[in-house]
Amino acid sequence: MHVKILLSLLFVGLLLNAEQPINTEKPGIYLGRQIAYTMHSDGANWLTRSEREKEESTQEMIKALGLKKGMTVADIGCGNGYHSLEMAKLVGEKGTVFCVDVQFIMLKLLEKRAREAGIKNCKTILGEFTDPKLPKGKVDLILLVDAYHEFTDPEAMLIKMKESLSENGQIVFLEFRKEDKKVPIKEDHKMSKKQILKELVHNGFKLVRSYDKLPWQHMMFFGKAKK
Ligand SMILES: C[S@@+](CC[C@H](N)C(=O)[O-])C[C@H]1O[C@@H](n2cnc3c(N)ncnc32)[C@H](O)[C@@H]1O
Repeated sequence: MHVKILLSLLFVGLLLNAEQPINTEKPGIYLGRQIAYTMHSDGANWLTRSEREKEESTQEMIKALGLKKGMTVADIGCGNGYHSLEMAKLVGEKGTVFCVDVQFIMLKLLEKRAREAGIKNCKTILGEFTDPKLPKGKVDLILLVDAYHEFTDPEAMLIKMKESLSENGQIVFLEFRKEDKKVPIKEDHKMSKKQILKELVHNGFKLVRSYDKLPWQHMMFFGKAKK
């Protein structure tokens, strides 16, 4: 009995150790935008809430990505994998989804969900706040859903993400619409189209297209701008 308790304590200790600290002090300002606090893994259930499909039309969003079998894609700030698992089904066994998060516990929750769904092509990566640790020049599409506005060092992340993209690779931004007062999300967790464009152009990206039919979010596709 004592051995069991000791082993459980050791396991919890390992989990806490592996978890990087998330920002407790107010994050900085980037190009005039207040960066939001990082969402803690304690709130992971909110990401898989039953109303999410209705609120965000997530199936329509995934379809709009235009994923094909065999693609190499990444879900950065993947949380517990709400979108990663859907992407994994679409890219199929020959494709790969790199699932990146800075919170170890989020990745463990994702791995459990993938195991239960029989999904084998999700590869989890414990990222750093300045580096998603993706392979260079290999990723066809990076998805960022409700994550970029939390990046404490957006510029460092954009540099690394750009390096990881294949020649015609794209980054897809999903952010709650700041212009729309009816979207019931805290102000720091929303972004305007103008602000997203400003930050991406500043970092050497060009807007390829926008999908404007989602109920609450902007969906913007960016590619590398020519030097
Ligand atoms: C609001 S959650 C969104 C999760 C998921 N994209 C979804 O839509 O279900 C934001 C996630 O971004 C992660 N995150 C924040 N900064 C990050 C960074 N620099 N690199 C990777 N993940 C980050 C957080 O740990 C959190 O799990």
